Amino acid sequence: MRVIFYTGKGGSGKSVISCATALKLSELGYETLVISSDPAHTISDALETQVHSAPTRLSGRDRKKLWAIQVDPIREAREKFGVIQEYIVSLFKSKGLDEVLAYEIAALPNMTEFVSLLKVVEFVESNNYDVIVLDTVPSGEALKNIYLPTLLGSTTAKLIKFVAPLVNITKVVEPVVGIPTPSKEVINEDIKLIEILGRLKDIIIDREVTSLRLVANPDAFSIQNMRRTHLLANLYNVNVDLGIMNKVIPEKVSDSYFNDWKSAQARYLAEAESAFHPLPLKKLRLFPSEVKGLKLLSELGNELFGDEDPAEVYFEGEAIKVTVSNHSLEVVVPLPAASRYKEVCEVERVGEDLSVVISTEIGEVRNFIPLPAIAQVMKLDSAKVLNDVLHIYFIENERG
Ligand SMILES: Nc1ncnc2c1ncn2[C@@H]1O[C@H](COP(=O)(O)OP(=O)(O)O)[C@@H](O)[C@H]1O
Ligand SMILES: [Mg+2]
Repeated sequence: MRVIFYTGKGGSGKSVISCATALKLSELGYETLVISSDPAHTISDALETQVHSAPTRLSGRDRKKLWAIQVDPIREAREKFGVIQEYIVSLFKSKGLDEVLAYEIAALPNMTEFVSLLKVVEFVESNNYDVIVLDTVPSGEALKNIYLPTLLGSTTAKLIKFVAPLVNITKVVEPVVGIPTPSKEVINEDIKLIEILGRLKDIIIDREVTSLRLVANPDAFSIQNMRRTHLLANLYNVNVDLGIMNKVIPEKVSDSYFNDWKSAQARYLAEAESAFHPLPLKKLRLFPSEVKGLKLLSELGNELFGDEDPAEVYFEGEAIKVTVSNHSLEVVVPLPAASRYKEVCEVERVGEDLSVVISTEIGEVRNFIPLPAIAQVMKLDSAKVLNDVLHIYFIENERG
């Protein structure tokens, strides 16, 4: 089972590359599902097939193994988490916000992106596919939601379960405190969500299963976006196995009109090579037209992957190392070279993980580090960054 995510700035080519990858995989014999939550319905366009909200098999004799699904995130969110949303709305309303605004806020921007992630759990667990390709993956920001259960802590879930039967009693408190208490239904949905999130996290941080691939164009803005996502992915322990620089003007274009574009692209490509080393970067040329239809997608897929198997794990970033010595413990977390790290601003235990906030040249980032069991019985001593490596030290708890 493989799960491949493509992420990158809008317009960089995620949808086209997702479809081309899925097409190639299906031709290699993998039962493949491509999932898109892009509201612009670009995969219907790219595949030139009406793609529905349930897995749609592509027509044609040789396409038996290619499936596509267009997720409508707003509808999904409403169906699956409508109760929670209603609760949030009632919370806002009780604070005096008008209803329209309350709904606007409750439709959390991350939530819509996030619903397509939850879909992954459903399809991985269905066991119907060999590879799932996700188009329009949540930006790096949305990845942090997979740590929600960690943040809440397993005890919270247990506590909620325990408290649930008592909720009707607390309803009495409502007029006094002035905020509505969640109904039993909301609490049950909450627990369900926390459980699904836990399973999602297991899938996403399994480096043999899930790969995140970064798509960018050779321009400043796109590469900056790629750096940030790379950084967040590494901090959230998600394996990035490939970068794709798309829409590179081919060498043979000799029209002097494009000279400046070509030299700027060459500069940005070199910059990307050094910023992301040792991550493999593939280059993909700018086609002479939009990439639509299976014929062009197949051509693009062949140029991108040649004889390779797109399901392979192209690269494995370094994982976290733990060394135990006399009475102390060191946890070493390699950070991606995509950004320069300054200092550790805040370290705190959150459930079984450690939350570390580090300031970098692109702002503060929070890192959740899963701790080995032995660290649970030790005391956090200090943390520092040294040459893009985060060191965390624990010492034995004093007795007595
Ligand atoms: N290598 C390429 N050559 C030419 N056109 C491309 C290439 N990659 C993407 N496109 C075109 O660029 C537009 C945006 O691509 P798309 O895959 O929809 O981007 P995203 O999903 O990242 O927003 C589409 O019209 C697509 O056909
Ligand atoms: Mg798209």
